[in-house]
This record gives sequence, C-alpha cells and structure tokens, in this order.
Amino acid sequence: MLNYHIRPEPGQKRLLLLDQRLLPGQEQYFICRNADDVTQAVQNMVVRGAPAIGVTAAWGCWLEAAHLEAEGLGESRFWEQLLDEALQKIAQARPTAVNLAWAVERMRKVWQKNTPLQLHALADIWRNEAENIHADDIELNIKLGAVGAELLTDGDTVMTHCNAGSLATAGYGTALGVVYAAVESGKKIRVIANETRPLLQGARLSAYELQKSGVEVTVACDNACALLMQKGLVQKVVTGADRIAADGDTANKIGTHGVAIMARHFGIPFYIAAPCSTFDFRATGDKIPLEERPADEVLRFNGTQISPAGVDAYNFAFDVTPAALISAFITERGIFKPPYGRSLNELRHQTEDKA
Ligand code: MRU
Repeated sequence: MLNYHIRPEPGQKRLLLLDQRLLPGQEQYFICRNADDVTQAVQNMVVRGAPAIGVTAAWGCWLEAAHLEAEGLGESRFWEQLLDEALQKIAQARPTAVNLAWAVERMRKVWQKNTPLQLHALADIWRNEAENIHADDIELNIKLGAVGAELLTDGDTVMTHCNAGSLATAGYGTALGVVYAAVESGKKIRVIANETRPLLQGARLSAYELQKSGVEVTVACDNACALLMQKGLVQKVVTGADRIAADGDTANKIGTHGVAIMARHFGIPFYIAAPCSTFDFRATGDKIPLEERPADEVLRFNGTQISPAGVDAYNFAFDVTPAALISAFITERGIFKPPYGRSLNELRHQTEDKA
C-alpha cells in the first residue's frame, strides 16, 4: 500500500505532501507549515482526491494551531479568531468534495467540546485527532475494499476514471482499494485507467500506483471509452466520489457521468466506491457545487499553448452522475443498491445513530 504521501515530519511541526503535480516523473515533497500552505497545496492540486484533502485539512488545523503558538500568539486575545478564520479558509479551498468541510467540522467539534483551553493544549488535542482521522481513513478503505472485492470476478477488467486510489486517500484507496482487495484475495484483475483530461489523474497517478502495486494497468484516452466497452474489453466500472447527495446523485471527476451513460448503454455494472463520510444527506444532486478551474489547464499542455490565443475553455472539474445510472454504492458499511430512496435512507439512519 502506498501510504507515505501525506505524513507529518517526525519531531517537527511540518506536513510533507508528495507533490502529485510532478508524478510519475519526480517524487518530491511539498512542505506545509501552516493553514496557508495547506490551502495552497489543496487548491493547486499538490494533494487531491476527496479523502486525501480531508485528511490534509485535519493536519492543516493542527499545523495552524502549532504555528500560532510558535509565533507567540497563545497569550493574545486574538488567537481564537485567527484560528477560526484559518479553518474557514481550509474548508473552502475546493468546493465540491464534502470531505474538506467534514474534516474541518470534526476538528471544530473537538475544539468546542474542550473549550475553554489554551492554544498549546488545543494543538496537542488536534494532533491526536488528525492522527485518528488519518488512520481511520486507511482502515475504512481497507474495509470498503474487502466489501467491494466481492463484486469483482476472477479475470475481470475494471475501468476507472480519475484516481481514487492510495494517492487520493490516506492510503489504499476507494475504487482502487476494491481492485487491490480483489487482487489480494487471489483474483486476476486488470485495470483500464481513463487518462482523465485535463490533469491526467488516470494516466499519471492511477497508472503510477497500480504499477507500483503490481496490478496490470492499461491507459486509455477518455474518448476511447465507448469503443473499449463495445469491444467487450470492460466488465465493470468502479470510480470514487467527491460528494454523494441524499438522492444518490454523485459528484465525481468530470467525465464520470459520460462513462456511466456508456456503461448503461452496454449493460456494464457501474459502481461508486466511497466511505460513508462522502455522503452529504443535506444535499440533492442539483445543489452540489461544481468547481470550475482555470481555463489554462485545458488550453495549455506541459506549459505549451495548444489552442489559439484568445480562445476560452470550459473547465468544470466535476460532474454529477444521476443515481439512476449507478448500479450500487460500495461503502465500509456494505453495498447499497437501488431503490436508493430506501437503501440510502437506511444508511443515513445508521450514520446519524453513530454521530
Ligand atoms: O480533482 P481531483 O483529482 O481531486 O478529483 C478526484 C476525484 O474525482 C476522485 O475520483 C474522488 O475525489 C474520489 S477519491 C477517493
């Protein structure tokens, strides 16, 4: 399992992030010392993937508390306000994945529960909480992987879109966690990684980690999807999710909706693998905020302008796949199948009971 990409530096108040913008060519770390560094790392895609940015956000809260303390602000009247503003910034770094706000909210609850307390004490408590969130994520992914592996048959080729693997989580992965678990159980599984324009999370990141883990992977252009399905080269589709609404409509990387439509057309099961923390029972699909990123990500390639100067581009980072196209949700609490009105309501009650 690749699990060294988000790690606090031992004995230091710094977080090391494997810079995913440079993979697979270079393995370099980006150093975060405070909430601003973490916010930038998330916005600029040094770290990406819904659970991974949630975990990073939790570490970011700790870093900011430790940073304010080191700056001597623990004795000032303002540290609570400064910290509050920093948490808001982290939570808003990217809008679509629910995990950012979820992780910051969890850190806030710990703060509220222990108030009043001194800044250095809060930093200590938050370090523990960030460690818990980090470790929980890996544990949940391993559980979810084992649940989902049951849906894969020996010899299957699984298509995935974007990267929902170790790099997109604290470790192991959601969609790729399902593949890893199936392979570990002795099944022969191949993966087709859609390249995922414009930032190539499939061609760069999924291919990188699958190869490192010894899983056979083939990269395909996003626009080869229908042909590959028509040729019978795809038995299942498994992707991750950034936010799953109460009605089951699911936001994930731009292009996922198209893949789901094609899977339905060719009668191929289309699964979403995500931990329960990705469900946002307050949202419906049409209310999920969809991030729009700079047009240059589409108009330039490797630093070179590829469209005529002056031409604009659409660069929605995510789309929403309607629940009707989703064969099942794979979670650490089991598999949830249609009708989602009933099954997701059951899941909602289970998670509310736990909260
Ligand atoms: O823009 P990204 O790379 O953060 O998008 C990531 C995805 O869309 C993933 O599929 C999703 O976050 C699930 S990761 C387990």
